[in-house]
Amino acid sequence: MPDKEFANTLIRNFYGKRLGRKLRSRQKELLAVDLKKLNVLNFLDTTPDGKQKLDLTVAFPGKSSVWLEVGFGSGEHLLDHAKLNSDTGFIGCEIYLNGVASLLGKLREEKVDNILVYPDDIRNLFPYFPEQSVTRVFVLYPDPWPKKKHHRRRFVTPEHLEPLARIMKPDAQLRIATDVSDYARQTVEQLHFNPNFEWEAERAADWKRPWKGWQSTRYEKKALLGGRTPLYLTFRRN
Ligand SMILES: C[S@@+](CC[C@H](N)C(=O)[O-])C[C@H]1O[C@@H](n2cnc3c(N)ncnc32)[C@H](O)[C@@H]1O
Repeated sequence: MPDKEFANTLIRNFYGKRLGRKLRSRQKELLAVDLKKLNVLNFLDTTPDGKQKLDLTVAFPGKSSVWLEVGFGSGEHLLDHAKLNSDTGFIGCEIYLNGVASLLGKLREEKVDNILVYPDDIRNLFPYFPEQSVTRVFVLYPDPWPKKKHHRRRFVTPEHLEPLARIMKPDAQLRIATDVSDYARQTVEQLHFNPNFEWEAERAADWKRPWKGWQSTRYEKKALLGGRTPLYLTFRRN
């Protein structure tokens, strides 16, 4: 498996990194062995109309809801949340294989049975979610793409918001954290005026304070060390 061969399975433009430092043999083994068991695509099923969809009741038996984290980095937030919410099934999606290997390494040490992983571009997974199947979505410190000409590469564009609206249940939450004020501006612009979503904030404290039960991430720690201010934006699916 992985390395270049795996990286080349991508079928569309992706501007971020698929691989960082050369994978060590333990990381390769985690991706080859553990990922086989934990890949959410193991739970694809064919619906009566011949479509391939994730069967989330089989994927997460007995769990009351499914939460999705897009771009989990090394997975510390995903793992902490899964441990704190044992009645919820978690799907973590991350295209950066070094990060996926890092999460898999942590999962080997932990007794957690409610995380499945998609080690690729979220855009490729969206079509496999049943409609209205996800109760909470986290996008934490998405790649900032600071240059104006690259703003369309940001996550908060219709390319991602339309499929998210399809897979999120009514009243489901989309939680986005960023330390880039212009990213927050674009997020609010895209979501506040999107008929499928409503911004939950009522006062400044609502976007300045982390969510209840917040688990910090590696990028947030970097942001704080760099003197930047995190912002926490919550949108509700109408
Ligand atoms: C700036 S990092 C933040 C990582 C982590 N959430 C944190 O706060 O430490 C953004 C992550 O999103 C991932 N990412 C970006 N676009 C993605 C996509 N389309 N599908 C899956 N992951 C993606 C990147 O690979 C990267 O690891």
